[in-house]
Amino acid sequence: MGYNTLAVVGSQWGDEGKGKITDYLAEKAEVVVRYQGGPNAGHTVVVKDDTFKLHHLPSGVLYPDKTCILGNGMVLDPPVLLDELKALQGRGIVPQKLFISDRAHLIMPYHKKMDELEEKSRGAEKIGTTMRGVGPAYMDKYFREGLRTGDLLDEKEFALRLAFILEVKNRLFAGVYGEEGFTVNRIEEECLAAARELLPYLTDTSLLLNRELDRGARVLFEGAQGTMLDIDHGTYPYVTSSNPVAGGICTGLGVAPSRVSRVMGVTKAYTTRVGDGPFPTELKDIIGDRIRERGREYGTTTGRPRRIGWLDGVALRHAARINGFNSLAITLFDVLSGLDEVKIATAYRCEGRRLEEFPAGLGILEKCDPVYESMPGWEEDVTETGRMELLPRQAQQYLKAVEEVINVPIALVSVGPRRDQTIAAGHLPLGG
Ligand code: GDP
Ligand code: IMO
Ligand code: MG
Repeated sequence: MGYNTLAVVGSQWGDEGKGKITDYLAEKAEVVVRYQGGPNAGHTVVVKDDTFKLHHLPSGVLYPDKTCILGNGMVLDPPVLLDELKALQGRGIVPQKLFISDRAHLIMPYHKKMDELEEKSRGAEKIGTTMRGVGPAYMDKYFREGLRTGDLLDEKEFALRLAFILEVKNRLFAGVYGEEGFTVNRIEEECLAAARELLPYLTDTSLLLNRELDRGARVLFEGAQGTMLDIDHGTYPYVTSSNPVAGGICTGLGVAPSRVSRVMGVTKAYTTRVGDGPFPTELKDIIGDRIRERGREYGTTTGRPRRIGWLDGVALRHAARINGFNSLAITLFDVLSGLDEVKIATAYRCEGRRLEEFPAGLGILEKCDPVYESMPGWEEDVTETGRMELLPRQAQQYLKAVEEVINVPIALVSVGPRRDQTIAAGHLPLGG
C-alpha cells in the first residue's frame, strides 16, 4: 500500500522557511509531526496579518482540525513549550489534537546552564548555539543520563533518578566550572511544575502515528534545522545535536522508512547561516547586507543577524542526495529582485582541484572557493505573482538553473511570508 506522506526538510543551515511551507501544505494534511530538535527551532508562520513563531509545536497547529505530534526524537523544554501553548491560547488557538511522545527527552535547567558555560569556555571556538540546552540534553540522552517526558508518570522513581543525576551534575558544576549546582526545589520550580501540566498530552506517538498511517492519513513530517546542521551530514562540529535529515524521521518517530513516501527540500533562493562554522559562499559585502535587510534575516529564536551568501549548489546537491529530495520549495525568492546579477555555486575550487561534492573536513572547506554560474538579475517585484509563467524571464532562468544544478524539480516558489504568496509549479506532492 502506498502512503500519502511528505517530509519537509531543510536543505541548508536552517531557517529556510520550513514553517511557512509546512503551514502552506498543512491545509491538505491531516497529521503534522515534528521528529527532532526542540526550542532551538524557530518557525515563523504568517497567517493574514498575524505572525506566529513556533519553537516546539509543528506548523500545522494553526489549523484547528489537524492532529499535531511531537515525536520521541525531540528534546522538550516544558516551561517553554507551555508558554508556547498559552501564547497560542491567548490568540484564540487551542490545539484539540495535540500529542507528545512519552519517550521525548526533557531539557532540564542544568542543560541550559551547561550550554551557556560550555559556549563561554570555548571562546573563539564557540559553536554559536541557540543556548536552549539542546546539545547537553541530547548528550545526556546518548550518555543514558537523560530524563524523559513519560518518566514523570512514576513520581517516586523520577525523584530517585533526579536525585542521582543532580549529584553527578552538581559535582560537575562545582569541580569543572566552579559554579553553584541545582537543588531539587529549583528543578521543581523551573521545570517540573510545567512538565506535569504536559502529562495529559503524553502518549505512545509511534503507535498513534502508525495507526493513522494504517488508515491512510495524509501526514506531513516537519523538519527543524537543516541538512548542513545535521550531526552526521552537516559541517561538524558546527552543527546541531540531532538528525534533521529525512533519515531522522524513522528513529525520531518510530515509523518505518517505507512509510516516508516523498521528501521535499526547502531552500532559500540564497543561503543564510546563523551561528559559527564554514560557509563557502558567504557574502561579506554590500550585496550580503542588502539581502539581509530585504529578507529581514535576523534569527527567529535569538534575534542574531544571519550570515548571508549566494545559493550553494554543492551543499544543495549533498542535501538532495542524503534526503532523496523528490521536489524543491524555493523560498524568499522575492528577496532577489533588484540585483544586477545573481549567482549559484556549481562547484568549489580547492588548491587547484575542482570539487563537485561537499567535503567533510573543515580544513578543506576553509580553502574552498566557489565556482559560480552568474546570471542577469531582474528588477520586478514578484511578491504578488501567482503563476510561474508570470515571473520575469530572468527569474525563470534562475529557477531553471537551480533545478539543473541538483536535478530536482521545483514544486513551490515562495514570494513572501504569507500563505497566498506561494506559487505552485505543477502537481503538489500531498494530494487532497
Ligand atoms: P524556518 O526555521 O525554516 O521555519 O524559517 P524561519 O521562520 O526561521 O525564517 C524564515 C523567515 O522568512 C520568516 O521570517 C518567514 O516569515 C520569512 N519567509 C518565509 N518565506 C518567505 C518568502 O518567500 N519571502 C519573504 N520575504 N519572507 C519569507
Ligand atoms: P530552524 O528549525 C538556524 C544552529 C545554531 C548553531 C547550531 C547549534 O529554525 O531552522 P544548537 O542550539 O542547536 O545546539 O545550535 O545550530 N541552529 C539553527 N540555525 N535555524 C535553526 O532552527 C537552528 N537551530 C540550531 O545557530 O549554529
Ligand atoms: Mg528558523
